[in-house]
Amino acid sequence: MLSYRHSYHAGSFADVLKHLVEVAILDHLRLKPKPFTVHDTHGGAGRYAIDDAHMQKTGEYVDGIARLFGERTGVAAVDRYLSVVAQLNPVGRLSHYPGSPLIAAHLLREQDRLQCTELHSTDFELLRQEFAGDRRVRVEKLDAWQGLKALLPPEHRRGLVLIDPSYELEADYTQVVGAVRQALRKFATATCAIWYPVLERNRTERFVRRFVEADIPNLLRLECCVRADASGRGMTGSGLLVINPPYTLAANMEQAMPVLQAALGEGHGHHRVAQLTGE
Ligand SMILES: C[S@@+](CC[C@H](N)C(=O)[O-])C[C@H]1O[C@@H](n2cnc3c(N)ncnc32)[C@H](O)[C@@H]1O
Repeated sequence: MLSYRHSYHAGSFADVLKHLVEVAILDHLRLKPKPFTVHDTHGGAGRYAIDDAHMQKTGEYVDGIARLFGERTGVAAVDRYLSVVAQLNPVGRLSHYPGSPLIAAHLLREQDRLQCTELHSTDFELLRQEFAGDRRVRVEKLDAWQGLKALLPPEHRRGLVLIDPSYELEADYTQVVGAVRQALRKFATATCAIWYPVLERNRTERFVRRFVEADIPNLLRLECCVRADASGRGMTGSGLLVINPPYTLAANMEQAMPVLQAALGEGHGHHRVAQLTGE
């Protein structure tokens, strides 16, 4: 039984980093006319109304997207992400925060495809309704790890596999490396981005080490912590491991991270952009 609902956390500082990276990767894929496929393993509900009771209860978006919405920072990757969020809020104020599938769908061209898996009944239904009638998008009520086996490789050789577990289950931490290796065997040319929380530093480092020890090549680590590491005090930061990143991503994130840090940080935060393994 899944209890995690992303509606409590949408637009948080962690979503800002994750979706900024998502936009940067998809923009890179859009540079060539050849079609690409986005495979989103943990789709969530797709869109989150700011005035929803869940969003208001935690207010996580207040220390996330609300600190940046409507700003221009002068850093291309940040401003591009903010423009995508603004385009998805045509009323001119932040009324909805877009989840990863909505951002992907917004950036798909006619020839591109999005396939999402989501297991929670309510969020699956919301996601299905969001894309009803969009023939470029496929939404399956399927376990993320089963979906990687069943839906890969996609029709196109270019693409992004976004893996964004809720880490409700310890198995999420341990299953990811095997699932990624399997996914890359089927879809070796994909960029693969795996989101992770920073809750307890030793556990985070163990998680990252598994990827390095598994000899996964061309692995970039992007991490932004809004507070100093402190175990038992909730999420202090988050990161993404990006396999086969666009060659411009590390440099763009070197510029973006200090801006995110300044906007979202609460003192004693830190960030890193590190190539962990070579090609
Ligand atoms: C962090 S949220 C996803 C947020 C979304 N990727 C975004 O950025 O907007 C994780 C989602 O995964 C779903 N989930 C958890 N375990 C799953 C599994 N084994 N298979 C598919 N979905 C799962 C949860 O219901 C939740 O909606």
